[in-house]
Amino acid sequence: MSHKTPTDIRVIELRNGNAQQLEDAARILHESFHANWPDAWPDMDSAREEVRECTAPDRICLAALGTEGSVIGWIGGISSYHGKVWELHPMCVDQAYRKRGIGAALVAALETAVAIAGGVTIILGTDDEQSQTTLGGIDLYDELWTQIQNIRNLKEHPYSFYERLGFKIVGVVPDANGIGKPDIMMAKRVTSSPS
Ligand SMILES: CC(C)(COP(=O)(O)OP(=O)(O)OC[C@H]1O[C@@H](n2cnc3c(N)ncnc32)[C@H](O)[C@@H]1OP(=O)(O)O)[C@@H](O)C(=O)NCCC(=O)NCCS
Repeated sequence: MSHKTPTDIRVIELRNGNAQQLEDAARILHESFHANWPDAWPDMDSAREEVRECTAPDRICLAALGTEGSVIGWIGGISSYHGKVWELHPMCVDQAYRKRGIGAALVAALETAVAIAGGVTIILGTDDEQSQTTLGGIDLYDELWTQIQNIRNLKEHPYSFYERLGFKIVGVVPDANGIGKPDIMMAKRVTSSPS
């Protein structure tokens, strides 16, 4: 599969990428999570291992290519609930190419691929380890649903990116990364056909 997205970015299946493209993907993953999620892929070896796992035959793994053919962002999908639900994991765009619609194009490409595979829903968890939202640094067992309803983005947390693309917050895992560091769970229906 290879197609032009609305923003004219070429999207390929990363498992068909060459060695340099796989290395680009590992570098972007490592660099993208370093600041706000220090435990995620702290070095290139852990990032290369993640790329290897994400490009396994039972996964969806799509990469956006720049004009020179280098990977400038990528996205993964993991099947669960007998293929009805796919977890979006991971998602990253090279810092130099952000805010140009590449992340949105990759999510759209994943939605299409999931629907073609017979999936109904995409879910994801987006951690807040650095109090980037009002759900970080508080006790979520206190007024849980009010806190979720009143969430605000304090420091460019990516939950707003997913909201722009039609995902809804469907819950939280309180203390997922330690006390006061929740995982924000989001979901989107990607097909209207009955299954
Ligand atoms: C989150 C990320 C993938 C977004 O990629 P991107 O290519 O910059 O996103 P897009 O340009 O397609 O953005 C689509 C929309 O979301 C908005 N948006 C993007 N990132 C945002 C953020 N962090 N906070 C608020 N809004 C954001 C954009 O402004 C744009 O809005 P518009 O439709 O009004 O123009 C990218 O910033 C990234 O790789 N971040 C580091 C890793 C990360 O956070 N991954 C997700 C972890 S769950």
